[in-house]
This record gives sequence, structure tokens and C-alpha cells, in this order.
Amino acid sequence: VLRSPIDVFGRGLKDLRLSVIDRCNLRCQYCMPSELFGPDFRFLPESQLMSFDEIERLVSSFLEVGVEKIRITGGEPLLRPRLPELVARIRSLSADCDLALTTNGIRLARIAHELAKAGLNRVNLSLDAIDSEIGKKMAGRAIDFSTSLNGIVAAREAGLGIKLNAVIKRGINECQILPLAQFAREQNINLRFIEYMDVGETNGWDKTDVVTGAEVLAILKKHYPLTQNKPRQGSEIAATFQYLDADCAVGFINSISQPFCGGCVRARVSAEGKLFTCLFGSDGYDLRPWLTKEFNKEQSLTHKITKIWNERKDRHSELRDKQSEISKRQEMWTLGG
Ligand code: GTP
Ligand code: 5AD
Ligand code: SF4
Ligand code: SF4
Repeated sequence: VLRSPIDVFGRGLKDLRLSVIDRCNLRCQYCMPSELFGPDFRFLPESQLMSFDEIERLVSSFLEVGVEKIRITGGEPLLRPRLPELVARIRSLSADCDLALTTNGIRLARIAHELAKAGLNRVNLSLDAIDSEIGKKMAGRAIDFSTSLNGIVAAREAGLGIKLNAVIKRGINECQILPLAQFAREQNINLRFIEYMDVGETNGWDKTDVVTGAEVLAILKKHYPLTQNKPRQGSEIAATFQYLDADCAVGFINSISQPFCGGCVRARVSAEGKLFTCLFGSDGYDLRPWLTKEFNKEQSLTHKITKIWNERKDRHSELRDKQSEISKRQEMWTLGG
């Protein structure tokens, strides 16, 4: 490992969130609303996605500067053809990095075993409702609960770690808070409630739609005995609470009410190879020219990453209410959250 870069506020670079495709087979209203992303919407053509060779060069440079945790994202990453092969190639670069995937779960059942065999450690699966009608409202398309359940079962059987993610939107799936918690408890899986965020420019975000983690916690506390765990470890962004009567915990990703930029050690790379130093970034740095075989011979990519990271000043969530003017924002589905 070379010197690990530090940004302007002293934050290191420990996590890489790597998007492998911008497409998705759902149309969640908080991410890719179906009215705006219809059949005519043009996603990146396959030729513009980073190739596996390019991704391999990219990942090895991030490992060289000290990244310890790699999360594969999308869009929906399971739509990327030959994903297990990519996982195996990343695993071969580092035997001990934490290699995870964030998925909507639709295609998980059929591929979980292969992914685990290739070296994936764990998955975070999005599940916003137990009830199928409400699930459809949130996801923009019918997604049967049994599909998610099958994905969870298959992931568990394959030996993958599992967490559940639920975004709660006021008046839409608030009534699913308890059913989701109940389900996760029955399955002994950690569930995290995520505050609906103002990512991108198309989801029509309004502060009144946000159900805060504190509100959700208050509801859960009425039904279950909970005790707060020690503060977050490493790059963990969820505040977690242990159930005293179950073998699992519940977490809260309170990006709106309690921003965690102070400890933000994550870089994001889009499927076309642009580096973003914040989820709320605007332009990104095109790394593609550095990903050719010839170009990366003398570690020029690690130098480029280091230089970009050294200049990093992002803390969007902390400045949210103070920023008067907002520059153009990258969409969630191009950065995988
Ligand atoms: P773990 O390694 O399991 O803790 O994963 P994670 O929670 O970092 O990743 P996941 O993809 O499951 O993301 C959960 C939610 O947190 C998503 O809504 C992400 O958009 C959000 N999130 C992840 N990292 C950041 C971040 O750095 N800033 C903000 N504002 N939100 C983030
Ligand atoms: N706010 C909060 N979370 C979001 N996600 C997608 N869009 C948003 C948003 N606007 C979540 C997904 C998934 C994770 C990667 O990000 O539900 O769990
Ligand atoms: Fe797809 Fe995830 Fe966006 Fe939903 S949140 S539309 S599953 S990329
Ligand atoms: Fe990191 Fe940006 Fe999220 Fe703050 S808003 S935690 S800087 S990604």
C-alpha cells in the first residue's frame, strides 16, 4: 500500500463504491421515477461501460492507496452480464478486502451461490414494503414479496452476509415500518431504515416526505425492547440498536437529520468510469483515460486519485440547509447510492 491520501478535512479514503451498470429493472419513485424513465430513456450503451479489464485496473489502484472495502452497485448491479466473473477478478486482487454488493434482490436467488463462490462476502438488499401493493407503489413496478424472500434465502444458503435497506416515504410506506421490522426480526437480519434523501434532480424530493430515523425509532420502541449499540465503527454510517429479545439489530441511516460527512471515507465511481468524491457531486473526474493498459504503467492512476482526494472538500449533507445555490446534481442511479 502506498501512502493513503487524506482530504482537506483529514478524512482518509477507505471505501470504494463501484457502479457497474446504470440500468435498473425497477423504477423506485425516490430514485428513477417511472414517469421520467420510460421505455425511451437512454441509459449508457454497453460500449460506454467500463470493461472488466478497466475495472480491474481501477480497483487495483484504489487498493494500492489503501481502500479496504469495495461495494458493487448500479443501477442494479445484477443486470451486468457475467458479474460473478468480475467478482472473482476483484477478489483475486485482494484476498481480504470486504467485498459487498447492493441489490434490489430481484435476480439474487439465481446468482447468489455463484457470487459467493466467486468471493463476494455480503449483500445489502433493498426492501421497502412487505405488502405487494405498497411495494409496487414504491418500486414503480410489481415486485412480489416472495421474490425478495427467495433472494434472501438463497443468499443465506450461499453463506453471504445480509442486511436489509428500507427507505420510508411519508404517507406511502410508513405503514410498513412495523411489518418490515417484524420480518427482519423473524429472519434474524439487520434492517436499516434510510432517510429519504434529496439525491439528484428528478425525484421531486421535499423535506416533508422524509420520515426521520428518530420517528421510526420511536415507533419501534413502543413494540420492542431496544438498546443503543456503541457508536459506529470504521466507515459504518448507520446508528444501530440491538433488540433485547431477538438476535439482530436495527439501524438508522440518518443522512438528513444527522449527517455523517465528518467520517466520510468513500469514493464513488460511475459505470462509465467517473470518480465522484460525494454522492451529491456534480461533475466527477473522468478516469477512463487512465484505465488503458499503456497509461497505467507508472502508477499514474494512483497519483491521480491521490491528487483528487487531497483536494476533496465535500460535506454536502452537513451544508444542506446552508447552501443557497445548488449546482447540477448527479442522479442516485448513476452512483449506486
Ligand atoms: P455497509 O457497508 O453494509 O454499511 O453499506 P452501506 O450502508 O454503506 O451501503 P448501502 O449501499 O447499503 O447504502 C445504504 C444507504 O446509505 C443508501 O441509501 C446510500 O445512498 C446511503 N449512503 C451510503 N453511503 C453514503 C454516504 O457517504 N453519504 C450519504 N449521504 N448516504 C450514503
Ligand atoms: N434516498 C435514500 N435512499 C435512496 N436509495 C435510492 N434512492 C434513495 C434516496 N433518494 C437507496 C435504495 C438502496 C440504496 C442503494 O439506496 O433504496 O437501498
Ligand atoms: Fe433501481 Fe435501486 Fe434506483 Fe430502485 S433505488 S430504481 S432498485 S437503482
Ligand atoms: Fe460523504 Fe457526501 Fe454523503 Fe457527506 S453527503 S457523507 S460527504 S457522500
